Amino acid sequence: MRVFLTLLAILVALLNLQEVKSHGVQPLSTIAIYSAVIAIDEEAYIKAAPVILGLNGQNKEWITVEYGIQNPSIDDWIGVFSPANFSASTCLPDNPRTFPPLLCTAPIKFQYANYTNPKYKNTGKGSLKLQLINQRSDFSFALFSGGLLKPKLVALSNTISFANPNAPVYPRLAQGKQWNEMTVTWTSGYGLDEAEPFVVWGQKGGEQRNSLAVTLTFDRNTMCGAPARTVGWRDPGFIHTSFLKELWPNSVYTYKLGHRLLNGTCIWSQMYEFRASPYPGQNSLQRVVIFGDMGKDEADGSNEYNNFQPGSLNTTKQLIEDLKNIDIIFHIGDISYANGYLSQWDQFTSQIEPIASRVPYMIASGNHERDWPGTGSFYDTMDSGGECGVLAETMFYVPAENRAKFWYSTDYGMFRFCIADTERDWREGSEQYKFIEHCLASVDRQKQPWLIFLAHRVLGYSSCAWYASQGSSAEPMGRESLQKLWQKYKVDIAIFGHVHNYERTCPVYENVCTRNEKHFYKGALNGTIHVVAGRSRSEPF
Ligand SMILES: *[C@@H]1O[C@H](CO)[C@@H](O)[C@H](O)[C@H]1NC(C)=O
Ligand SMILES: *[C@@H]1O[C@H](CO)[C@@H](O)[C@H](O)[C@H]1NC(C)=O
Ligand SMILES: *[C@@H]1O[C@H](CO)[C@@H](O)[C@H](O)[C@H]1NC(C)=O
Ligand SMILES: *[C@@H]1O[C@H](CO)[C@@H](O)[C@H](O)[C@H]1NC(C)=O
Ligand SMILES: *[C@@H]1O[C@H](CO)[C@@H](O)[C@H](O)[C@H]1NC(C)=O
Repeated sequence: MRVFLTLLAILVALLNLQEVKSHGVQPLSTIAIYSAVIAIDEEAYIKAAPVILGLNGQNKEWITVEYGIQNPSIDDWIGVFSPANFSASTCLPDNPRTFPPLLCTAPIKFQYANYTNPKYKNTGKGSLKLQLINQRSDFSFALFSGGLLKPKLVALSNTISFANPNAPVYPRLAQGKQWNEMTVTWTSGYGLDEAEPFVVWGQKGGEQRNSLAVTLTFDRNTMCGAPARTVGWRDPGFIHTSFLKELWPNSVYTYKLGHRLLNGTCIWSQMYEFRASPYPGQNSLQRVVIFGDMGKDEADGSNEYNNFQPGSLNTTKQLIEDLKNIDIIFHIGDISYANGYLSQWDQFTSQIEPIASRVPYMIASGNHERDWPGTGSFYDTMDSGGECGVLAETMFYVPAENRAKFWYSTDYGMFRFCIADTERDWREGSEQYKFIEHCLASVDRQKQPWLIFLAHRVLGYSSCAWYASQGSSAEPMGRESLQKLWQKYKVDIAIFGHVHNYERTCPVYENVCTRNEKHFYKGALNGTIHVVAGRSRSEPF
């Protein structure tokens, strides 16, 4: 059998003991935006160039910001805002008893004025190179004194923008509900009353055809709390999904995103290509990459705080370099760590575009996507920053019956994957438990010998110190009801994220190794191998 399972335990991590509990690590959350005051200083200035970006269709560009102030301080900082007219007029009070603050929008990124300008504290002059991505709106730049905790806006820049801010961007592929269906999801600034979204696609070099796309969006009120509903809110634009059906197994297809404006003009993305999935049971080369907890990072060094996700750019770079050896990717929860700062989802989809536009990028739901008190999540933490799953469920397609219940199965050649949602009840008797059993029981093992269970939190085994401190080796109740299913249906491998580490067990059942080999197994395992794939970096746990 020519099946290769590459468990790239990539994973990035911030992680540490707090990960299981805290949510306050998003760098943008370190800015006390509600306390900001406007104190324009006529002597201070800030300006940005070039004024128009993406003249050759690019969706990502470097710009230069120059600034100066009379009384510099090392904690002066630059905030990048989008839309450019971030303004008091749109501020909502956090609760009915408070007055709307002066600033009610977090920047989409920030950097200290002294970054790359060690003389700034003496000269009060500096410049920054920043990378901007096309995210449906224009940009402005503000110079603040007073540090992150008592921000005083002293100067505001000119506005700059992409030539077409509405352009279709950041396509992400995902397996459809049928083995021979690929879905492509992307973001644009075109609502249905302005343009009709569609995909032009076909076998490479063959006849091309059009498929319509469906469109979703959501408003501020669908967020469950702050910051997603307050300073972190940003208009998500429109998210389109097209279903490319009846694909020929393993065939290469090309596709292009389009929007037909009312006057007949079409706006196009660049051309992309992908390889269709193999038929379930087909014996061909199949290479799978699985990891959790990646997050995003800024190539220009902005938003650095607390080593938030220092490794995610290394991980995406490595995946891009290896892309010709990768057929499908599973990112099993803790996707962008936007934690309620919505602009960061555009940043994330931009960062993974070279990967997700070429191979199916399947996600699972994690605590940072879903958890919010009183909203139906299994855990009552505030880890999603008020997103309560809306972003993950809208920005990415998964072949679930109901995307608000993030469990699904997907077949890839000789693999059957059963993806669970650890942020919803999985215990015996629950709706999800029935799904898991059906997913495991319904596969023809003669044709699909590899049965893989995936989930975000560790329901199986991990030696993580936090679990150990609870006298446990997994989430409480994690494997209680599931281990008999894994055993009965002979699940080969169960892979989890959440813990920012890499671990692999022997084939195990009820805490006992069922086989003693260390590296190579032949024949029945009599247990399930458990893997934690939440880290690829060298940061200490
Ligand atoms: C730049 O500012 C930051 C934040 O105040 C400070 O931690 C850092 O030491 C400063 N660097 C220099 C070279 O002054
Ligand atoms: C800000 O600009 C956007 C377009 O970029 C516009 O839709 C919005 O109405 C403006 N808001 C204010 C308060 O002027
Ligand atoms: C259609 O509308 C777009 C956007 O307003 C414009 O750029 C384009 O020139 C128009 N095309 C025609 C044929 O009028
Ligand atoms: C990640 O990439 C950065 C920038 O290229 C590099 O400085 C750093 O050493 C890399 N880290 C690892 C662990 O490879
Ligand atoms: C697996 O379990 C079966 C039934 O309990 C047993 O007969 C067999 O010897 C076991 N195989 C190994 C390799 O332990």
